[in-house]
Amino acid sequence: MNFFASDLPLPETDLAFVQLEPHENQRWSTWPSIIPSQRGPEPRPSWVVTSAGAFDTELGVVKTGKEADVFLVERAEPGHPGAVMAAKRYRSSDQRDFQRSSQYEEGRRTRRSRDSRAIANKSSYGRAIAADHWSFAEFEALCTLFELGAPVPYPVQVNGTELLMEFIGEGRTAAPRLTQVHDNLPDLLDQVIDLMHVLARAGFAHGDLSPYNLLVHEGRVVVIDLPQIVDVVSNPNGMDLLHRDCTNVATWFTRQRVECDAEELFADLLGEVY
Ligand SMILES: Nc1ncnc2c1ncn2[C@@H]1O[C@H](COP(=O)(O)OP(=O)(O)OP(=O)(O)O)[C@@H](O)[C@H]1O
Ligand SMILES: [Mg+2]
Repeated sequence: MNFFASDLPLPETDLAFVQLEPHENQRWSTWPSIIPSQRGPEPRPSWVVTSAGAFDTELGVVKTGKEADVFLVERAEPGHPGAVMAAKRYRSSDQRDFQRSSQYEEGRRTRRSRDSRAIANKSSYGRAIAADHWSFAEFEALCTLFELGAPVPYPVQVNGTELLMEFIGEGRTAAPRLTQVHDNLPDLLDQVIDLMHVLARAGFAHGDLSPYNLLVHEGRVVVIDLPQIVDVVSNPNGMDLLHRDCTNVATWFTRQRVECDAEELFADLLGEVY
């Protein structure tokens, strides 16, 4: 009688986890194909999944926006606990707001002049680069601020128009924005001021700071939406943008009956920059 190894029953535990191809809502983890400079800073948090055998599973939309959509993605090896991440995908379509770009871009340079011209001309090549440009800008800002110790989501990787970062929330539910929070506001204001100081000390303003771009998770403030981070000194609009950040923060907290003086905050932060 012939005997084949394949006739032997596989142990049941192995059978349960055999998955050779991604399902419809999955792709192979993109991590192995990401070059080191497009991966987040070391030391990497232990939850980051680096296995080449992992899949990325789409779990749904967190929020759609004008310039980017944020999705929930889980990266896991079959049969192993995975990591839930926020995938921010920038649009390269005509609807993107190119007007806004210039104010933030002054004093910054795109390395390739062909790219700068294409972006300025709004050609389809230009639109594609501009979308990439914003995802890379946000990735770089997150890396810089993470390394400064600012409370930002850990940036896992950037790949074209897609930025993968730590998901701030509980399970699959995103943390509320500051606008939705009513408790412990004086403490939250202190945290916001602290993080503005961390940025200012390094010469930065957020550039679009508002209670919509501040999440509150387990009592801690986390700042998001950073593609337009501004160098306060080299950008001719730097001071104005820093001032606007201060006004947005102070106005919101003051309306919630937590006093905050925008001008005083602005002066303190300028003192850090210079
Ligand atoms: N890392 C994250 N963890 C949890 N939720 C997130 C994360 N990043 C973004 N979000 C959610 O997605 C929303 C949009 O993200 P973000 O502000 O970065 O994008 P946007 O395109 O600028 O959106 P908007 O125009 O609404 O400001 C946030 O308000 C927040 O609710
Ligand atoms: Mg936002």
